[in-house]
Amino acid sequence: MPTIETALTRKLGITHPILLAPMGSAAGGKLAAAVTNAGGLGLIGSGYADAATVSRELLAAGNARVGVGFITWALDAKPEALRAALDAKPAAVMLSFGNPEPYAAQIRDAGSKIICQVQTLTEAEQAVRLGADVIIAQGRDAGGHSGTTRGTMGFVPAVVDIADKIPVVAAGGIADGRGLAAVLSLGGSGVSMGTRFTATRESLWDDAMKSRVIGSGGDQTAQTRVFDIVRGAPWPAQYPGRALRNDFYQRWHGNEEQLQAQRADAEKGYLATRPDDFSARVIWAGEGVDLVRDVPGAAELIERIVAEAASVLMRGAELVR
Ligand SMILES: Cc1cc2nc3c(=O)[nH]c(=O)nc-3n(C[C@H](O)[C@H](O)[C@H](O)COP(=O)(O)O)c2cc1C
Repeated sequence: MPTIETALTRKLGITHPILLAPMGSAAGGKLAAAVTNAGGLGLIGSGYADAATVSRELLAAGNARVGVGFITWALDAKPEALRAALDAKPAAVMLSFGNPEPYAAQIRDAGSKIICQVQTLTEAEQAVRLGADVIIAQGRDAGGHSGTTRGTMGFVPAVVDIADKIPVVAAGGIADGRGLAAVLSLGGSGVSMGTRFTATRESLWDDAMKSRVIGSGGDQTAQTRVFDIVRGAPWPAQYPGRALRNDFYQRWHGNEEQLQAQRADAEKGYLATRPDDFSARVIWAGEGVDLVRDVPGAAELIERIVAEAASVLMRGAELVR
């Protein structure tokens, strides 16, 4: 199997420049361990900074060297969740969607790498200033929550230009080896993938959700706040979530104030639907969902992506005269 060595693989001591994005509902310890054992780095999703989730999923990861990701504004309300993670000496802690500054020293002192996922150049500059080990440039193509302005293609090289020697990882819309090769061409050092990993054997998602993802395309996704509003998740308005559009989305998107006004009833109705009623229930998915067509094991997927990226890069080299 080919390997692609980058500033990211050297910084994190991994074999392949692939990170499992820390996804609240999908990236548990089992999937994170599978990604790490296959040569990437698995990041466990901590939900809304839930210490019990962190401890449970770190246990599920066994002895694998994994990291943990936090939604920073949620961590602000429950900082004890970071302690639960650091006690296990994770390889890295990822912070996204808020101010990482208050947590940097604690993470560094615990011997973990600091990964900042950013949505704007201003945030990227802040990550450089605080000495992040890795910066993830997340475009609005991403599944789940992201910013609203930057697409991955334009954002990644702009972050590379200000990151100096800090490895920059791309997130948003990357689901195969072509995407990895493209990111390396943009000056990035690796990829963080969420949507692609939701449909793997080790993902926490059930078969119905995985099937839904496989049967869907990027045209069906949209950024919206309606699923957060109905569940009472206090996401700052600048971070909508990209999900599959469904009946619930059609009913409420554009009518967010009305939904907020009748939230209690709306939530009751939402929770009364069956978990596999995807006309109501949310499935977070990014534009790269076009490329998700099967449910492989994480190791097979990583092997496939690296082999394809290597082949794309070598083909490109042959074309240069
Ligand atoms: C199902 C799902 C859940 C996610 N949950 C989180 C989360 O809890 N914390 C976080 O920082 N990012 C979360 N994300 C965003 C990822 O960190 C990552 O930026 C994104 O998945 C990359 O884009 P992609 O989905 O196109 O690969 C989630 C993404 C998905 C698809």
